[in-house]
Order: sequence, then C-alpha cells, then structure tokens
Amino acid sequence: MDIHVRLEGRGDRAERIFRQIREAVLDGRLRPGQRLPPTRDLARQLAVSRNTVGVAYEQLAAEGLIEGRVGAGSFVTDSHPPAAARRAPAGTLPPRAVWRRVAVRETPATPRAPFDFGVGAPDYTRFPLTTWRRLLARELRESARPFASYAHPAGHPALRAAIARHIGVSRAVRASAEDVIVTAGAQHAFDLIGRVLLDPAAVVAMEDPGYGRIRLLYETCGARVAPVPVDDEGLVVDALPARARLVFVTPSHQFPLGVTMSLRRRTALLAWAERRGAVVLEDDYDSEFRFGGRALDPLQSFDRSGRVIYVGSFSKVLVPGLRLGFLVAPASLQPALQAARQLSDWHGDIAPQGALAEFIDSGALARHIRTVTREYEARYADVVREAAARGVKIGALAECYHGRARRDGLVIGFGGIPSALIDPGLDRLQQAMTAAARAGGASRTRSGDRRAGARE
Ligand SMILES: Cc1ncc(COP(=O)(O)O)c(C=O)c1O
Repeated sequence: MDIHVRLEGRGDRAERIFRQIREAVLDGRLRPGQRLPPTRDLARQLAVSRNTVGVAYEQLAAEGLIEGRVGAGSFVTDSHPPAAARRAPAGTLPPRAVWRRVAVRETPATPRAPFDFGVGAPDYTRFPLTTWRRLLARELRESARPFASYAHPAGHPALRAAIARHIGVSRAVRASAEDVIVTAGAQHAFDLIGRVLLDPAAVVAMEDPGYGRIRLLYETCGARVAPVPVDDEGLVVDALPARARLVFVTPSHQFPLGVTMSLRRRTALLAWAERRGAVVLEDDYDSEFRFGGRALDPLQSFDRSGRVIYVGSFSKVLVPGLRLGFLVAPASLQPALQAARQLSDWHGDIAPQGALAEFIDSGALARHIRTVTREYEARYADVVREAAARGVKIGALAECYHGRARRDGLVIGFGGIPSALIDPGLDRLQQAMTAAARAGGASRTRSGDRRAGARE
C-alpha cells in the first residue's frame, strides 16, 4: 500500500518521513502487523534517495514502532499503546432545522434487548442461509457482465418479472414487470415517492397511530404530515384533510394496531382520492403472513384510475439487512420514479437482486413463507395454552371477533388479579412464551418438513 507522505518545504527529509509514519502508526492508520513499503519503492515514490528512507526506517525501529524481518521487509510492531481514534474535526456546521428532530434508530451498536418482543422483526434464525449463499454465489459467477456495468434504474429485469408474478398470484396485485421498480427496502420506495410527488409544504395524510419513520421522512422532505385516526375499520376516510396530496395507509395489517381496512373503507378511500386528485400509498409491508382468515385484496387491485402506488418489502418475509423491496406505480409516474432512483444510487446491488429472482422463481420463497407462517401461528396459539398449563389465564384476541379476526393479540386484564400476584403471574407468562417458542420449533420438526426452506 502507498503511504501518503508530504515532503514540500525545508528541513531534513528523513526526519519528515520518520515523523509522518510515526504519526500514522500512533493514530492507527497503520496497524500492527502491517507491512511498510520497501525502502526502494518509497524512495521512488517520494523522489528521494533510498538512503534517506533507510534512515527514517532506522529511527522508527529504534523507537520500537517497526521491526525488520529478514527477507520479508519492515512491519509495524504491536508494542506501542493502542491507537487513539482518529476522527474528523467536530466542527459547528448545523444541518437544516428539521434534522435536529431526527435521530438514527437501531444500529449494530445498539445492544440487542435480551427479551426482544419488539414488533416488526422476523425471526432471523429462519433465514434460508444455505440456499441464499448458493444463489448469490451463482449470480456472482453468471452475472459477471451485468455486474460489471451500470444496470437499469428499475432493477434487475428477472427480479422485476419475478416480483410481478409473485404479487400477482399471492396478492392479486395487477402488475407486469414494467410496473415494478426494485428498491432498497420499502423505506427507499417511500423516499423516491416523496421526492417525485411532494412540493414544499404539500400535505401528507397518514394513519394515527402509524409508522413513525414515514412522518419523519416526509417532514424532512418539507411536507406537512397530518395525522388521521384509525378505528376498527382502518383509516377514517371522512377525517382526511381536503388538501392531502398523498395518503399513506397500511390496509392489510394496520401498523401498529393490526386492523384490516374494511372493504367499505377501501372503496371510500379510492373514491375520495379520485375526487381530490390525491395519490394513495399502500404499504403492504407484511401481507405475506396470514394467520387465519383470507386476506382482502389490496387497494391496488381495485384501482381503475392509476391513483395507487403499492409498496412491498422483503424485510419481514426474509430479513431487513438485505435491503430489498419494491414499488408498483402507474405508468404516468414511472419515468420520474425511475429517474429519481437513478439520481439517488442508480440501481442498488445487482447480484442479490438476481439471487432473489431465482429464489422467487424456484418456489423457495413460497415454501419459506408457508414454513414460517406455520411456525409463527403455532407460537401464537401455544402461548395461550402454555400459560393455562401454568395457571395463568389470558385470552386470544381472535376469540373476541365475530368471524375473521381483524387484529392479532393477547388479551390481558388486571382488574381481577390481586396486585401481589401480578409480578409472579408475569414471570409465569414469560415462561409460557418461552415454552411456546420451543413448542413452535418442535411442531415444525414433528411435521417432518424437510424441504429446503424449512430445514435451514
Ligand atoms: C409499517 C412498516 N412499513 C415499512 C417498513 C419498512 O420496511 P423496509 O425494511 O423494507 O424499509 C417497516 C419497517 O419496520 C414497517 O414497520
């Protein structure tokens, strides 16, 4: 590796080489065990004599910072104190005011909670790693050419086609490959949509309670985000602000309440959008998972006038780290959305897109969905049963519905239990959940499912 050394100005050259390399070792740019360039090479690079570099190296060795190994060269030793972190200057540059309210959410540096009941995260241990590794390795061999140059901003053609087929069958979404744009997760799709549709101070209506990252995203785009209440039928269409340009909804499985938007509300929302000239953003982030009952068709499948943009994600059904999602938009918005994607990051990493196309086309995705749905279903049912076996009574929300359940949940009361029994009761509930999780795993094994997606 070349070392950046400045030699302009006056003074002893060997001394300046020595000081700059010493600084690089002490602040960690050169790490223990790293090999320094041979004196001949560095001398040529700096246009000095080999002797000058040799003197600098001798001084570094005398201070114990490097050591010579016969026949191999000079290496940084590990006998000096650990390097202090080298940081960019803190500075005082302020971001736009809106960014002071936006913080980075979970990162790998955030310790994982030991009892993670957080919503929205899949069980990462179910990810079909072996299949994925095989498909990705194949892409890196076979797609050497597409991989080596820029691709279409709408994404890998095979993946656009596979997604169109998959959501056509599993969700009755009306789309061909040309209608699909592959994105880096649903959040990226929301970002592209905002940039293409929202003028400064445009009004975005969203469900309240709703997905907080959407509110922040559109506020940072300069939009005014208006909360709209949600009841047992989903978003209250009558409460929509008249000027809304974009309406963000999660009709299949309202986030976070879990309500399914009724057919009546779906029709009312589309009629409202048509009257007002508004766009409906349908976030179908986890619709693959159906626990009992049949899913209602998405809004997009009712849309006759091209008002709905449908967004899907592979974060819940596979894992969020893949950063793969998609949008299906009417033809009138395609050129702008594709251009926005190109201006943003051109098209994302093309090899995982090819791997996902094959994962879908080979039927592995459908198998994976069936397996994990069965497993999550078993965990949910088992919690109530396991709790009862430990003397803890809780209810399943599904039992409270006439017909199909619109929300998933457990019903826990506190009026009928003495205060002193609440803590021990919760401890037992926790044991019941652990046992249920195990039983979910066991029932999977018992079912003898040996297909690729299930095994990994
Ligand atoms: C309701 C909802 N929509 C969209 C997303 C974003 O998913 P992605 O990881 O694809 O950006 C999430 C993520 O948790 C979510 O909860």
